Amino acid sequence: MAITGKTILMTGGAGFIGSQLARRLIDNNEIVIFDNLHRNALKFTDLDSHPNLRLVKGDVLDRASLFEAMDGCDIVVHLAAIAGVDTVMEMPTLTLKVNLLGTLNALDAAVKIGVERFVDFSTSEVFGSHVYMAEEHNATTLGVVGESRWTYAVSKLAAEHLVYSYHKEHGLPTVTIRPFNVYGPQQVGIGAIHTFVVDALKGNDLLIHGDGNQIRAWCYVDDMVDGTLLCLEREEAIGHVFNIGNPRATVTVANLAQLIKRLCDSSSKIVYGYKDYVDIELRIPSIKKAQTLLGYWPKVDLEEGLIRTIEWYRSLIGD
Ligand SMILES: NC(=O)c1ccc[n+]([C@@H]2O[C@H](COP(=O)([O-])OP(=O)(O)OC[C@H]3O[C@@H](n4cnc5c(N)ncnc54)[C@H](O)[C@@H]3O)[C@@H](O)[C@H]2O)c1
Repeated sequence: MAITGKTILMTGGAGFIGSQLARRLIDNNEIVIFDNLHRNALKFTDLDSHPNLRLVKGDVLDRASLFEAMDGCDIVVHLAAIAGVDTVMEMPTLTLKVNLLGTLNALDAAVKIGVERFVDFSTSEVFGSHVYMAEEHNATTLGVVGESRWTYAVSKLAAEHLVYSYHKEHGLPTVTIRPFNVYGPQQVGIGAIHTFVVDALKGNDLLIHGDGNQIRAWCYVDDMVDGTLLCLEREEAIGHVFNIGNPRATVTVANLAQLIKRLCDSSSKIVYGYKDYVDIELRIPSIKKAQTLLGYWPKVDLEEGLIRTIEWYRSLIGD
């Protein structure tokens, strides 16, 4: 059943996924976006002027203001995080603090206020660097200390343990989502699709780090939002972790660059460069659990999603 008449607080709601989720919920609910605006996708939307939106500029590390903003809310979606490989590698300490302590603060506030549902955003990175049809109960992997990239996965995995512990000990109705490579219009972080599309439209070289045989399954943002709504709506979701992604949209990075170049009708060259960071070689989810328990099924195939994404970037930057 669709959610209506609720007050929903979204930490990180000004980001890529949060702003699109807010769009889907705002006509029938009150939305409180709690975000420090480290990133801001709201500027691409009409949400700012919506009568059901309250935007609170705040930091999840500031417990008092988070508690105050959450007061009176029925549902919490916790998306605030330092995300994106480049940002994480620049700021590993802040990544650990925000992703772990920010989640702790959000959980404490949610328990105090007594919310009906707490949906937490984790990551597929908790599975490590070789992930083939990973199921939720498969072992997670901890990256080595000294590789900054892994501060993201480690902080998100520790946060998953916190979320589950709050469910078990305090009875908080929690759900954890592990998104697998989300893309689409209004992405404010930099990812392969963002970079390739912008470069293809500008006629710049498409630079592939390494030999381009890294494999990813790409999830269009509308499918990510559909999966999140099911986690908010369905009783069966409580106490569980779900992979949300699109295993049908699997491609190598080199093939992705070629596909984007073709769909943009671009004369850009594809070039290969040195890779000086640890990378994920293979990442494809199993979505069987979300399919069976929640009825989740991604609808947007890669080519269709890319066409929609390219159209959006084209309107933003022009030809
Ligand atoms: N996009 C993906 O492919 C993907 C994949 C795996 C996991 N995730 C997770 O999903 C969630 C949403 O991802 P996204 O792509 O929308 O990211 P995003 O970076 O666009 O959004 C995150 C938001 O959090 C806010 N934020 C950062 N630090 C904050 C702080 N200290 N206090 C308050 N707000 C803060 C940012 O301003 C931003 O608006 C994140 O938790 C991310 O780790 C995303």
